[in-house]
Amino acid sequence: MVKAWYINDEELVTDERAKRSERHLNPPQYLSLDDLRHRTGVQYERVSVDNYETEDSLQEICTQKGYSYSDVLDIHPQRLENYSQKLEAFYTEHMHPDEEVRLVLKGSAYFDLRDVDNNWIRIGVEKGDMLILPGGSYHRFTLDLNGYIKLFRLFGSKPDWSSFNRPADSHPARIAYVEKAIMGF
Ligand SMILES: [Fe+2]
Repeated sequence: MVKAWYINDEELVTDERAKRSERHLNPPQYLSLDDLRHRTGVQYERVSVDNYETEDSLQEICTQKGYSYSDVLDIHPQRLENYSQKLEAFYTEHMHPDEEVRLVLKGSAYFDLRDVDNNWIRIGVEKGDMLILPGGSYHRFTLDLNGYIKLFRLFGSKPDWSSFNRPADSHPARIAYVEKAIMGF
């Protein structure tokens, strides 16, 4: 089940230290899904994924949101080309003009988003969690200690693969996002 909490980059422990100590430096302050929505514009859905290709609730979301293109991203060192470079790019703070829509088929990972005050919110996702990150939101992605995730990616009819590393404050999608953020989405 999805969880979201504030993080401080300076307090993030490395994987090795986390494995040894099995704790965070500070206990997480969890946010409700409503708070997450109001602070970042992120939409969350829970989807049954064992037969996701024929899952009615997923079809309904696709129809409602206009998603008609999809693919699978299997983030595994033997199955993803340029694995290390891609993970590095995913963890570099960036934004897209369009929504980033991800449904977790297997494994787990973290999506980090900036709130309106520029603080990082970490969202831990696992099987059956679906996130819709708004276009223009600054975010990044990283694996967790399990080290593996398989994602179903959804797009509108014309997938826009473009990505802009921060700063991209003058991009029209970023400007539109900030306007909505100020209003609390
Ligand atoms: Fe992204």
